[in-house]
Amino acid sequence: MKKDLVLILDFGSQYSHLLMRRIREKNVYAKIVQPEIKPEEIVDSGEYSVKGIILTGGPSSIYTKGAPRCDKKILELGIPILGICYGHQLIAYYSGGKVKRAKRMEYGVTEAVVEKRVGILKNHGKIEKVWMSHGDTVLRLPTDFEILARTKNCPIAAFRHRRKHIYGVQWHPEVIHTLRGRRLLRNFVFDICRCRPTWTPESFVSRSVKEIRDEVGDGRCIIALSGGVDSSTAAVLAAKDIGKKLTAVFVDHGFMRKGEPDEIKKTFSKFNLNFICLDERRRFIGKLRGVTDPERKRKIIGEEFIRTFEKTAAKIKADYLIQGTIYPDRIESGIRAHSEKIKTHHNVGGLPLKIKFKKVVEPLRDLYKDEVRKVARTIGVPRKIVERQPFPGPGLAIRIVGEVTEKKLEILKRADEIVRKELEGWSGGKKLWQYFAALLSTKSTGVKGDSRAYGYTIVIRAVESTDGMTASYAKLPHALLERISTKLTNEIPEVNRVVYDITHKPPATIEWE
Ligand code: XMP
Repeated sequence: MKKDLVLILDFGSQYSHLLMRRIREKNVYAKIVQPEIKPEEIVDSGEYSVKGIILTGGPSSIYTKGAPRCDKKILELGIPILGICYGHQLIAYYSGGKVKRAKRMEYGVTEAVVEKRVGILKNHGKIEKVWMSHGDTVLRLPTDFEILARTKNCPIAAFRHRRKHIYGVQWHPEVIHTLRGRRLLRNFVFDICRCRPTWTPESFVSRSVKEIRDEVGDGRCIIALSGGVDSSTAAVLAAKDIGKKLTAVFVDHGFMRKGEPDEIKKTFSKFNLNFICLDERRRFIGKLRGVTDPERKRKIIGEEFIRTFEKTAAKIKADYLIQGTIYPDRIESGIRAHSEKIKTHHNVGGLPLKIKFKKVVEPLRDLYKDEVRKVARTIGVPRKIVERQPFPGPGLAIRIVGEVTEKKLEILKRADEIVRKELEGWSGGKKLWQYFAALLSTKSTGVKGDSRAYGYTIVIRAVESTDGMTASYAKLPHALLERISTKLTNEIPEVNRVVYDITHKPPATIEWE
């Protein structure tokens, strides 16, 4: 039996991934695709049956030259459709309605008057608080359509086709400021699309084990194991089916946190993964000598990783490389056509163009970190690893702003250990997504004892997040910050200044590079 799928045609909204999460939270599989997808590809979606299509919002006006469009025939497929914001306007425009060009944007929470509490607006109140972010407005619809809701500035804030399952909504149901947004999506996914809630960690496991088997056949594989939850989960998943043909390679590039390489060796030697550890510390730091540009650092590290794997693969005659790449890694490396690249994650965009493997297999490519953790628990990945805070592939090399040297690495390792231990011991630490130290290249003047101290600055970074896509800086108690600062300056002679990073993501990113 085919599996249910909701396709999200991404017109470049900042909220497309949030929308996808909202649907997956309901145990229904949702996938983001480019809006240019052909109707035939939607009808023939392999092992999936597309039960619903959502057209997202986006930064463009439908009147802008080159604005992304989808094939109009998608409206004729008989599959339920929900247009949100730009998607809402596009459906109205394609159906012969009138869309007014914006004079200015409307942002924020407003009240919607719900005229018909049916379809997507079932179980809604007469007045609902909704969140808007748009320019253009739908002003008129053909007689085939009926209006479901209006707001002060939008006479047609929600509509539906009288006979077909086609809906549009100007506000954003996926953001939390729309109080009954989850209800709206639930109505669409279950009542209108008739999806079944079968997308669970267990079903994911059996499907991906089969997928790995289909992709690699009898071939030998190696997996890049970093000791983080993503690569560990990918390794244990792969081991379920191809066990003996799998070799897990841990590359010690020298940029891990203090004590970590030993811990990783200890943990994974116990697994049935043909674990090997390669000490490549000198080579990596050598390649980074004189390099200060963060993107170059990431690319160099990514490339060196692959070269190391290729060498091992050649020795053991492996054709496939399995990686624990997850969805946010791919988004931030710029896989979305209508959005911008932020930075190159070393296990994605950092791959050299020519890879000597037959194929790179990424079983977790569509999952978010919290979904990976659920899968990890299901397949028995040790708790310590499941709960380990995310750590970037290029490691401390991208937490040293500017050139990486042995000396700076040593300072940062000590600083990171202090920050980590203090926050682990703090009662609020469990709620944090990540906490760490970064080292700046700017030195500053200070005084230690009676002498001038011209030393390094350590940045403390601690953030809350659910998926790493957005984050808020953590409101750490001042007493705790003071204790950490004192320890850092007392215990590390080269450090004479400590700052706390109070920037959210956006506009900053979590890491400094
Ligand atoms: P940023 O700094 O982009 O980080 O806000 C978002 C999350 O991703 C982690 N990160 C990486 N993970 N390879 C990885 O596997 C990378 O190159 C990489 N860069 C950032 C980061 O620690 C945070 O959790």
